[in-house]
Amino acid sequence: MSQFNDQHLAVNGQASGMARGSVAILGSTGSIGQSTLAVLAAHPDRYHVYALSANTRADLLLEQCLTWRPNFAVINDSTQASWLAAALKEGGSSTELLVGDEGLDAIASDSNVDIVMAAIVGSAGLQSTLAAVCAGKKVLLANKESLVMAGPLFMAAVKASQATLLPIDSEHNAIFQCLPQSKFSESPEQINYDEIKKILLTGSGGPFRTLPLDQFSQITPEQACRHPNWSMGRKISVDSASMMNKGLELIEACYLFDCNPSVIEVLVHPQSIIHSMVEYVDGSVIAQMGQPDMRTPIAHALAWPQRIDSGVQSLDWRQMNALSFEAPDLERFPSIRIAREVANDTTSASIIFNAANEIAVQAFLDIKLSFLNITCVVEESLLKIPSSEPSSLIDIKEVDAEARRYAASLIDSL
Ligand SMILES: NC(=O)c1ccc[n+]([C@@H]2O[C@H](COP(=O)([O-])OP(=O)(O)OC[C@H]3O[C@@H](n4cnc5c(N)ncnc54)[C@H](OP(=O)(O)O)[C@@H]3O)[C@@H](O)[C@H]2O)c1
Repeated sequence: MSQFNDQHLAVNGQASGMARGSVAILGSTGSIGQSTLAVLAAHPDRYHVYALSANTRADLLLEQCLTWRPNFAVINDSTQASWLAAALKEGGSSTELLVGDEGLDAIASDSNVDIVMAAIVGSAGLQSTLAAVCAGKKVLLANKESLVMAGPLFMAAVKASQATLLPIDSEHNAIFQCLPQSKFSESPEQINYDEIKKILLTGSGGPFRTLPLDQFSQITPEQACRHPNWSMGRKISVDSASMMNKGLELIEACYLFDCNPSVIEVLVHPQSIIHSMVEYVDGSVIAQMGQPDMRTPIAHALAWPQRIDSGVQSLDWRQMNALSFEAPDLERFPSIRIAREVANDTTSASIIFNAANEIAVQAFLDIKLSFLNITCVVEESLLKIPSSEPSSLIDIKEVDAEARRYAASLIDSL
């Protein structure tokens, strides 16, 4: 292990003159990956970029390697490996290139790595995120799908390895900040739900919050990816538009904070200034606020339990006219109702929910499925695929594969 640890930072206060935190970014070419690099760029005395990774965007990974000079880079698409290796060499880089899942597992669990940013999108992120958890890393979890798919296994691995799991989703990061910190630093099981009335999971409502339901069938991928407040990758943008993202987040929150779904209320807050809240039994409500900019939760989790500059501008309170709130419209966004049912189900439902959604979102982006049918594919898959009780990663992958096959054939038949 390298010399870095949070205790060291906490005791010494100043970052200079001590070992830097060694960071591996799984999915460095994505929206979260690039925001992470933006925060790291402001703190070269605290952090060292040890490893980066991409799926297919070898040109961007090359650019990042030449800028950051990591020890390792991983490209998932093996057909691009020889081009990338040659380009690295030509650029005078000493970065060692690894390929595919084995490469991702290797950087996620490398003994020289202190912090792993899990920012691969979708189920493709599960194995490497779990590898980081099993290796006891400080894991910054953006890849919510891995927790939705493998919640019980994942949280058991966190406990067994004593990994530090910090949420990057702005809502979960906000909830984390609003919960009693002294208890959380020990473990989520220490949260005393006798003191907590509810967790208010906020969401902007996405680009179609006010669009009449009879126009949903004409929604295009470009419209769905144009989020009013956040700039994100295409999959999460579509999930936000269908509010499937809020459903995934509801399930994610149950695992992260070890709570019953009934504790969590979804609340639409179109301005995305409050990122979530916790209401206590004495009537106090603690909210976390800030600009809708992912550099804030990323900086928070990187430095936790300290604080570092994220580069995000202050809120201008004088320009803020109103913060508004409303209940989600479950008729137009049934994904939240479905997710709540899934969150109450301890079988394979959450794996099916996630896999069918991934297939349906990709089909929508490929113009093979209408926006309205995304939720129909998910609901139908949940109804038709027999439930099971997966207890290992192999079982989880089997259910995931079966759900993908079913959802794909359903889309073909529509
Ligand atoms: N963006 C946000 O503001 C935000 C907020 C909260 C949570 N999240 C979560 O963070 C995760 C990442 O989101 P994002 O918006 O950053 O996504 P994104 O922009 O699409 O980036 C995804 C990253 O994962 C890589 N990747 C994709 N498929 C892969 C595969 N099969 N194997 C290995 N790597 C793969 C991509 O590589 P290429 O570039 O080569 O394709 C890219 O580096 C998601 O789980 C999302 O729900 C995102």
